[in-house]
Amino acid sequence: MSTIFSSRLLLFISFISILIPPITAQPSFRNHVCSNKGNYSANSTYHGNLNLLLANLFSYTNIQYDFFNASYGQNPDRVNAIGLCRGDVKSNICHGCLDDARSLLPRLCPNQKEAIGWYNECMLRYSNRSIFGIVDNDPTSCLHSENRAINLNLFNLALRNLLERLKTKAASSSSIRNFATGDATGQSYQIYALVQCTPDLSEQECSDCIEGVISEIPNCHEGGIGVRIDRPSCGFMYDNFQFYYPNFRNHVCSNKGNYSANSTYHANLNLLLANLFSYTNIQYGFYNVSYGQNPDRVNAIGLCRGDVKPNICHGCLDDARALLPRLCPNQKETIGWYNNCMLRYSNRSIFGIVDNDPISCLHSENRAPNLNLFNLALRNLLVRLKIKAASSRSIRNFAYR
Ligand SMILES: *[C@@H]1O[C@H](CO)[C@@H](O)[C@H](O)[C@H]1NC(C)=O
Ligand SMILES: *[C@@H]1O[C@H](CO)[C@@H](O)[C@H](O)[C@H]1NC(C)=O
Ligand SMILES: *[C@@H]1O[C@H](CO)[C@@H](O)[C@H](O)[C@H]1NC(C)=O
Ligand SMILES: *[C@@H]1O[C@H](CO)[C@@H](O)[C@H](O)[C@H]1NC(C)=O
Ligand SMILES: *[C@@H]1O[C@H](CO)[C@@H](O)[C@H](O)[C@H]1NC(C)=O
Ligand SMILES: *[C@@H]1O[C@H](CO)[C@@H](O)[C@H](O)[C@H]1NC(C)=O
Ligand SMILES: *[C@@H]1O[C@H](CO)[C@@H](O)[C@H](O)[C@H]1NC(C)=O
Ligand SMILES: *[C@@H]1O[C@H](CO)[C@@H](O)[C@H](O)[C@H]1NC(C)=O
Repeated sequence: MSTIFSSRLLLFISFISILIPPITAQPSFRNHVCSNKGNYSANSTYHGNLNLLLANLFSYTNIQYDFFNASYGQNPDRVNAIGLCRGDVKSNICHGCLDDARSLLPRLCPNQKEAIGWYNECMLRYSNRSIFGIVDNDPTSCLHSENRAINLNLFNLALRNLLERLKTKAASSSSIRNFATGDATGQSYQIYALVQCTPDLSEQECSDCIEGVISEIPNCHEGGIGVRIDRPSCGFMYDNFQFYYPNFRNHVCSNKGNYSANSTYHANLNLLLANLFSYTNIQYGFYNVSYGQNPDRVNAIGLCRGDVKPNICHGCLDDARALLPRLCPNQKETIGWYNNCMLRYSNRSIFGIVDNDPISCLHSENRAPNLNLFNLALRNLLVRLKIKAASSRSIRNFAYR
């Protein structure tokens, strides 16, 4: 049996959200379910285990991505928890969201052994039963705005096509996140969607889970825009504007040599990244750093997009310095491109050297209507900006428009 939530609950949830201001101007979709599968009493062993597990949640992270899978205590008082962030949010926002969730959820469900909370940027659940690697289709949460599509038939058709496409993309995702975003636009509709499964599901399980959530659309808000439907193992949301962060993010772990855990190189890299911001050339978002003695010297370059403000630049590089060594856990040379910055490091000297390799290509699915005209205009623009950037008297070598 599924539990469907009315918009009255949504009002209640919106009220809760006053306590935790949203980080972005995104729709404030938040919901929770306290399962009626058993209660614990205050100060019981289960309560103690739950508190300890949540307090230490961030130490249980799977090293590669923001998926937290934790267990604590002995049966019958063992607590199992899963925390998952939306695939498009940065580590620091992910942490902030789960940090809110771990204090909020036990207050919302003060004595239930099993509970689940969906928040704007993350999901947290716990139970006394094992929940890892298990497809859970119950409960179903439905949150929606009051907006409706103008042309219902066209909208539904486009929505189904988009969700089918993203379902396949998320389930077969080569990235560890089982996550996909995309959009569909026509004359009378504009749909942006985000689809995600927990990463402990197989491709088939993820696909089946999303299919199940798609079948809930008529029960939730048929023909509505601004909709979020979730089950414990997967979910999606769609709206008529791009609510998710554009995901221009890529990295390459060069195969030019490995270091081993706890080696001198590893320690030098950690120290260099920990102190990255103390090496800044004070005037602009360019960080050029070296640390340690040969042959274990580490060289790094951090660069922000020329138009981003110092605090955004700082935030981006902060995220990158935590993420990149996790994505390339033993490679001496690595590069990561993020929306607002780039970070790379190597055991060779990289300052003042033109590197043409590797090449990273990221793109949306959109296409120009008139290819020839578009290509001509694009070439002209890029040539103009090339000259402008190269001859820039500003220290940033940056041009736009
Ligand atoms: C979880 O707790 C409930 C209620 O106390 C109990 O009935 C159930 O067997 C427990 N499940 C496990 C896996 O321990
Ligand atoms: C658990 O406690 C809630 C109140 O917090 C109550 O409504 C529910 O019936 C209890 N469930 C069980 C299985 O005792
Ligand atoms: C639980 O422990 C706290 C602090 O030790 C205490 O204030 C509270 O009264 C206890 N509650 C119960 C139900 O035993
Ligand atoms: C998740 O937790 C389960 C059970 O504790 C464990 O078997 C599994 O290896 C963990 N997986 C990851 C990816 O951490
Ligand atoms: C970097 O490390 C690799 C592999 O350990 C080694 O072959 C290479 O010579 C090193 N480069 C420098 C400049 O130390
Ligand atoms: C470095 O480690 C990666 C796995 O992390 C492996 O694929 C690669 O072959 C190793 N490269 C060298 C040069 O040992
Ligand atoms: C590296 O050091 C950490 C902490 O000192 C330790 O837990 C870990 O086992 C070490 N790893 C290796 C491969 O030596
Ligand atoms: C960058 O680092 C290199 C090598 O450590 C150093 O020679 C150079 O002065 C640095 N440049 C800037 C702009 O900090």
